[in-house]
Amino acid sequence: MDLERILFSQGFGTRRQCRGIVADGRVRVAGALCTDPDADFPLTPTLDFEVDGKSWRYREKAYLALNKPEGYECSRDPQHHLSVFHLLPPQLTTRGVQCVGRLDQDTTGLLLLSDDGAFVHAFTSPKRKVPKVYLATTRHPLDEAQLAALSEGVLLHGESDPSAALAAVRRDDHLLELSVLEGKYHQVKRMVAAAGNRVEKLHRERIGGFALPATLAEGTWCWLDEPELAALRRE
Ligand code: URA
Repeated sequence: MDLERILFSQGFGTRRQCRGIVADGRVRVAGALCTDPDADFPLTPTLDFEVDGKSWRYREKAYLALNKPEGYECSRDPQHHLSVFHLLPPQLTTRGVQCVGRLDQDTTGLLLLSDDGAFVHAFTSPKRKVPKVYLATTRHPLDEAQLAALSEGVLLHGESDPSAALAAVRRDDHLLELSVLEGKYHQVKRMVAAAGNRVEKLHRERIGGFALPATLAEGTWCWLDEPELAALRRE
């Protein structure tokens, strides 16, 4: 693929802008300066290039994990807070990366993003039940009756069928580990409220078999490659 199209596919701007970036001598491929936008490069899984000194690896599709901080909305047009897209390089927004499901602005932890429509659909479809593990700090001490209610199913306002957790485990008096299959609006907060308690803080720790990496600082993101995608699919 020629260099202009490579940059375009990775979100570096319009075709014309990408041509200009190359012609202006701002791009190095595998360490060597290349000023010819028409120069062809084979699309290997390790095609590395630099734009303005920043390295980038060609990826046909983008899969990312973000450690979401509190106070960010999962929307491109946030109403009251910053957008999680402010935490990503602009190329990723340009190439159409979107959130795979949403976390509330005050929820922290694992958020997936991708520009692969089929992947986004697969992980957000109500039919595909992917376990998600949350840690909820509760206002009141957790008791056996609340844990039993969460496991057996609680009726959420406006719903006809009860919602049951896959697992509800007390990590300490005020710390609940809740695994759920669905991703309904405010699901964890509503379930905990229906069980007679209240969520003060919420953190998503895991999706499928993929846990938020301990090395991923709050507000930072990492690429998901095949091993991480395989872990996500494991349940
Ligand atoms: N459940 C909630 O209540 N909020 C979230 O952000 C995610 C799950």
